[in-house]
Amino acid sequence: MPNASTTAAAPRVTPKVRPKIEFQRLGKRFHRKSEPVTVMEGLDLTIYEGEFVCVVGPSGCGKSTLLNMSAGLMHPSAGNVLYDGAPVAEPNTKVGYITQKDNLMPWRTVTANIALPLQIRGMDKKGMGNRVGEMIELVGLTGFEKAYPGELSGGMRKRVTLARTLAYKPEVIFADEPFGALDAQLRGVMQQELLRIWAASKNTVVFITHDISEAVALGDRVVVLSARPSRVKVEVPIDLPRPRDLSKLRFDPRFGELNEYLWSVLSEDLNEGDEV
Ligand SMILES: Nc1ncnc2c1ncn2[C@@H]1O[C@H](COP(=O)(O)OP(=O)(O)O)[C@@H](O)[C@H]1O
Ligand SMILES: [Mg+2]
Repeated sequence: MPNASTTAAAPRVTPKVRPKIEFQRLGKRFHRKSEPVTVMEGLDLTIYEGEFVCVVGPSGCGKSTLLNMSAGLMHPSAGNVLYDGAPVAEPNTKVGYITQKDNLMPWRTVTANIALPLQIRGMDKKGMGNRVGEMIELVGLTGFEKAYPGELSGGMRKRVTLARTLAYKPEVIFADEPFGALDAQLRGVMQQELLRIWAASKNTVVFITHDISEAVALGDRVVVLSARPSRVKVEVPIDLPRPRDLSKLRFDPRFGELNEYLWSVLSEDLNEGDEV
């Protein structure tokens, strides 16, 4: 097994504060056509408050399943998921979930889409208006308040999704390959935006991606999962200083080293657990 410590000599960028999410000997089994499939077995991982953790792993190794269990949308078959030290028994309303699909309501304006989670929580009209206004400004959608999702570009729809998720001040953001469908240039813009917003919000973020360079560019730590049955193969602290200018980062030799190391770790498991 590769030794992460060779790449991880520098001190942590984010100090370990308080465990926010803990996975303890986590296991998950599904039944497919009556055949049991063990997706995960003995997975141990702690996510600390305020940390930006990126998770990479071969396709089909259970990354989305891990987030679903963290959010309380699925239950483990073995082991525990703890949130603030307590087992996650039901859907966790303190977390925000961003997926590749934006799931915006086409018949609602930008404003009404962002307001939706606040409406569901019964916020009064004035409070809602103020909060939505703040969010529109934060994600750079000023001037598009009355637009409908169908009139927006892919990047702008992503901004609406971000604003909608941040509107109710989630403690933790789960992002499941959120920028996977965007072209490279737009992805870069959205990554930089996410870092800017995260620096202001201080949320805990668990960000799933299949793009190693995205994981290195964004994260305080990159967690590599093995092929099925998955567990944590290696955890690599990303000792690149913040704030990070992503347009310059790729010229940083340390960025190249971290990418290369992670690529070598991940490629050992490619094909083994890959879904075709
Ligand atoms: N609800 C489900 N029922 C049966 N199998 C599932 C279910 N959800 C996921 N799986 C299976 O679990 C494995 C991991 O899925 P997933 O977490 O989506 O992987 P990843 O996100 O890493 O690509 C896959 O083999 C997938 O088919
Ligand atoms: Mg997935």
